[in-house]
Amino acid sequence: MKSEYKMTTLQDTQRLAEQLAKKLQGGDVIGLIGNLGAGKTTFVQFLAHTLGIKQTVNSPTFNIIKVYAIKNHKSKIKNLIHIDAYRLHSAAELQALGVEEYFVDPHVVTVIEWADRVKKILPKDAMMIKIKLKKNGERIFSATSTALSQPRAFFPLPQSSHGTCLQ
Ligand SMILES: Nc1ncnc2c1ncn2[C@@H]1O[C@H](COP(=O)(O)OP(=O)(O)OP(=O)(O)O)[C@@H](O)[C@H]1O
Ligand SMILES: [Mg+2]
Repeated sequence: MKSEYKMTTLQDTQRLAEQLAKKLQGGDVIGLIGNLGAGKTTFVQFLAHTLGIKQTVNSPTFNIIKVYAIKNHKSKIKNLIHIDAYRLHSAAELQALGVEEYFVDPHVVTVIEWADRVKKILPKDAMMIKIKLKKNGERIFSATSTALSQPRAFFPLPQSSHGTCLQ
């Protein structure tokens, strides 16, 4: 199932990230796909903020992986892992860094920028979000949710509280 959202402002993106963050559980993997400047890191920053991370979240382009602790006692998610695959040449390179341990950790949510570059090693039920920046400045977020047979469907999120749901 695919859902599309039209974002005109930063606030639209913030609201979508907030709604998604509330549905996340440990072991979830989110892949972000989009050109330079599409808004991938911005989305992660809003997700991190909603999960209770107070540190500044920057693109981990040079470090590849950044680990953020979630100190909220009520949250079962203990870490947000932020990966930027921009500088990687293959999925194997990321695999060599041991990331698959994160994918199966019930206390971890992993979010990956440039996920299309490392698709091979991502779990089959990873949620993929494509971000397209249009010439008029609008951003179209297309999210492929896990199959409807899965116990949780992330998308579509309610239409009224963010941007415009196109579908
Ligand atoms: N929904 C939005 N509305 C308006 N501006 C936005 C929105 N999303 C992102 N931006 C702006 O676009 C710029 C680029 O965003 P960002 O760094 O998140 O892109 P990116 O996809 O991570 O880029 P890169 O591929 O270089 O890592 C930033 O200045 C950010 O504030
Ligand atoms: Mg980025």
